[in-house]
Amino acid sequence: MLDIRLELTKEPKEKPAKGAPLKFGHIFTDHMFVMNYTEGKGWHDARIVPFQNISLSPAAMVYHYGQEMFEGMKAYKGANGEVFLFRPDMNAKRTNDTNTRLCIPHIPEEDFVQAVSEVVRVDQDWIPTDEGTSLYIRPFIIATDEFLGVAPSKTYLFIIILSPSGAYYASGLAPVGIWIEDEYVRAVKGGMGFAKTGGNYAASLIAQVKAHDGGYSQVLWLDGVERKYIEEVGAMNIFFKIKGKVVTPALNGSILPGVTRNSVIAVCKHWGYEVEERKVSVDELVAAAQNGDLEEVWGTGTAAVVSPVGKLRYKDEVMMIGGGNIGELTQKLYDEITGIQWGKKDDPFGWRVQL
Ligand code: COI
Repeated sequence: MLDIRLELTKEPKEKPAKGAPLKFGHIFTDHMFVMNYTEGKGWHDARIVPFQNISLSPAAMVYHYGQEMFEGMKAYKGANGEVFLFRPDMNAKRTNDTNTRLCIPHIPEEDFVQAVSEVVRVDQDWIPTDEGTSLYIRPFIIATDEFLGVAPSKTYLFIIILSPSGAYYASGLAPVGIWIEDEYVRAVKGGMGFAKTGGNYAASLIAQVKAHDGGYSQVLWLDGVERKYIEEVGAMNIFFKIKGKVVTPALNGSILPGVTRNSVIAVCKHWGYEVEERKVSVDELVAAAQNGDLEEVWGTGTAAVVSPVGKLRYKDEVMMIGGGNIGELTQKLYDEITGIQWGKKDDPFGWRVQL
């Protein structure tokens, strides 16, 4: 159990007005959680302080070798003002899976959840309530040793910032176009693909720019060895409905084990769908699209929630899905997942955590 010192801001900021359009990740709340790690001492000095810049040596290791990790979570406000988190234990566990890969010291899972809960509680008035909005939570850890050698740092900062946000895609729930990348790759088995670390996203930027230039909003990655099997999208996992079955790439070490991915699989099974977690080749996908078997495509992610995909491009092939409209199952999944998150629907899985 952390002993968290609380220093409240003397200059509260203006909150976004109800009904005003909220973009994703541009505005930050009044406070943040901070905790230090020092070798020999462990994690210490847990505190919630006014949101502020941090000062680091330009030699801090995170700037040079990218030893860092991050998580993405959300807080929601229910109809009677209750504050909910969604499966925070999954993020706590994934944090330590990432930490293991990046040689970052573990944070006890209960301390992680306590830190998130406390800072959200302090800034709960910032949780937006308009349809499709939430308080995005960004926990992250950075290596802070002042040292230019390549080695695990001996000191770290764990910080949690909060951002009242709208939909991740500017288009909201309108289906997005996705570019299947056949030149660059994101990750390979044995690398960091399963970990939530900035390097994976830095590696994705060049293809994202290429996709944007081609008029697409995201990149769908193929495996790093054969460039044949579907892996994940830049900011989400990917699902297909093929001849009535729900199909998604199996977790293979280079794919992020998404919390929303896991939840969507559980909900689909609960509804009686056959769900296949397996290798999906791009050739199978193109063939399914050509012969009309590819019924729906959607992405899942904390930020992206359940996002319909209306168009896929692979080399010279452009595949339109569902006439560019949101699919029936995709819409149902969006309604179910957000309904559970917002406290509007029953939570048969016990995923919702009320603060
Ligand atoms: C999330 O969905 O929370 C993520 O961390 C993805 C990020 C690229 C926005």
